[in-house]
Amino acid sequence: MFRIGFGFDTHKLDENHEFWLGGVLIAHSKGTTGHSDADTLIHAIIDALLGAAGLPDIGNQFPDTSPEFKGIDSKVLLSHTMDLISGKGFAIGNIDSTIVLQSPKISGYIPAMTETLAAVMKIEASQISIKAKTSEKLGFIGREEGISAYAVVLLQKEK
Ligand code: CDP
Ligand code: ZN
Repeated sequence: MFRIGFGFDTHKLDENHEFWLGGVLIAHSKGTTGHSDADTLIHAIIDALLGAAGLPDIGNQFPDTSPEFKGIDSKVLLSHTMDLISGKGFAIGNIDSTIVLQSPKISGYIPAMTETLAAVMKIEASQISIKAKTSEKLGFIGREEGISAYAVVLLQKEK
């Protein structure tokens, strides 16, 4: 009836890259590097959804060796993941997530991220929680070399 899933992702931050996070473009001197648009929050959510549904992970669904996915908007990957989830008869109960990022402060972007992700997943904004933390200047996140995100999701079997 109910299935929980957990997802984690991390990306390197570098100059001269766009910074996509939660489907929104963040204004910053650095951005995330990766094969797709490297949206760390969306990738964590995708893995949580796939894990809850008992499906193989993001790297299996969307190989980073495939030219098809080079530079792809992660919202497209999330939308495709929703098709996989629905295809197995699951609906989202709720999603909770935490972004770990030293800089910039992103709390002002959270309403836009929530609305954007809700629209892509065709759920209510009230079903998504996005939180942000620094790493208190510790480690690679503290040195502003990277970003991590964690997500948990509850799925409900509909049929
Ligand atoms: O207070 P505490 O040390 O637990 O948390 P923090 O990592 O200093 O973050 C304090 C608050 O800043 C968070 O609750 C977020 O609302 C906000 N924050 C943010 O907007 N953007 C970040 N990159 C990190 C934190
Ligand atoms: Zn990723």
